[in-house]
Amino acid sequence: MSTTILAIESSCDETSASVCVDGKILSNFIANQSIHEKYGGVVPELASRAHMQNIVPVVSEAMKTAGINPGQIDAVAFTQAPGLIGSLLVGSQFAKSMALALDRPLISVHHMQAHVLANLIPERRPTFPFLCLTVSGGHTQIVLCQSPLKMTILGETIDDAAGEAFDKSARLLGLPYPGGPLIDKYAKTGNPNRFKFPEPKVPGLDFSFSGLKTSILYFLQNAGTSNIYKEEFRVTEEERTKFIGENIADICASIQQRIVSILLNKVRKAAEETGITELCLAGGVSANSGLRTAFEELGKKHGWQVYIPAFEYCTDNAAMIAITAYHKFLAKEFSPLSIGTSARAEF
Ligand code: KG4
Ligand code: ZN
Repeated sequence: MSTTILAIESSCDETSASVCVDGKILSNFIANQSIHEKYGGVVPELASRAHMQNIVPVVSEAMKTAGINPGQIDAVAFTQAPGLIGSLLVGSQFAKSMALALDRPLISVHHMQAHVLANLIPERRPTFPFLCLTVSGGHTQIVLCQSPLKMTILGETIDDAAGEAFDKSARLLGLPYPGGPLIDKYAKTGNPNRFKFPEPKVPGLDFSFSGLKTSILYFLQNAGTSNIYKEEFRVTEEERTKFIGENIADICASIQQRIVSILLNKVRKAAEETGITELCLAGGVSANSGLRTAFEELGKKHGWQVYIPAFEYCTDNAAMIAITAYHKFLAKEFSPLSIGTSARAEF
């Protein structure tokens, strides 16, 4: 008997549905919401409305691509936390309604746990225990994963997330939201050693990115002459725009290199301290080409095994919800139809 799971993800600004049979992903359909671009960030109210419009066609498409009908579904899964509450509610209500109508169990999934388990989707998978660097727009964590459903956070950011560091830097450069992919794009042709940004001193396996943001702010206000605030260093708006325009590739490459080094120095420390050398990447920022390359180089240098999910499983997607739900199904971890959603939640 095979196990077919329909999973829904709607925690932020992507509406996604996926069908997985016995842990194998048959479809992963994602609808992006471009409406937020002009606002410089996700507008929660608009995100909820867009989820309402997208959810029926997205779920239908995921089932059509997988070639299944509703009667074949054994369980319905959804993202329960964390995320924007209005967005989470759309996916959860839809999943509950389907579970009720089909008389099938409901499985609630933690979004960050699912990002980690995206590493179990490809055929080449990490063996347990493994360490996972989860880097997204809202989180930056080093997670020790002992088994599919047993995870411990070893370190996390004390202020901004890595994705926020990319997006806020991009905003300072006048780039639209989300700026992470654009910094990645410009960085490809830039010199990463041209400008120096400070590495924060944070104890243990925790991270901090707010100092970097401030240093980039002053660096741009001073047209690259210094990273500190001094009234006499400040240039005019026009000079700043000219400086950015002429040096965008080198600035992006230098910012990216610093964010990547902050992340990987802590991953190396975690591997050395725990002795665990199966290393995974997860979350939207793991789509970053500089991070992917440096992560692979780190593995090669130390003889460690590294795993990076395919691009479509790095940013928000329902396939990662489906794979997590599959393991919950095997463990018979079901949720009552009365379960709520929550904006913040530890796992
Ligand atoms: O995991 P995700 O899709 O959503 C959250 O749960 O937050 O991550 C989104 C974040 C955004 O901050 C976005 O700028 C960043 O991932 N991102 C990137 C790249 N692609 C997405 N950051 C740097 N380089 C990229 N190529
Ligand atoms: Zn995410």
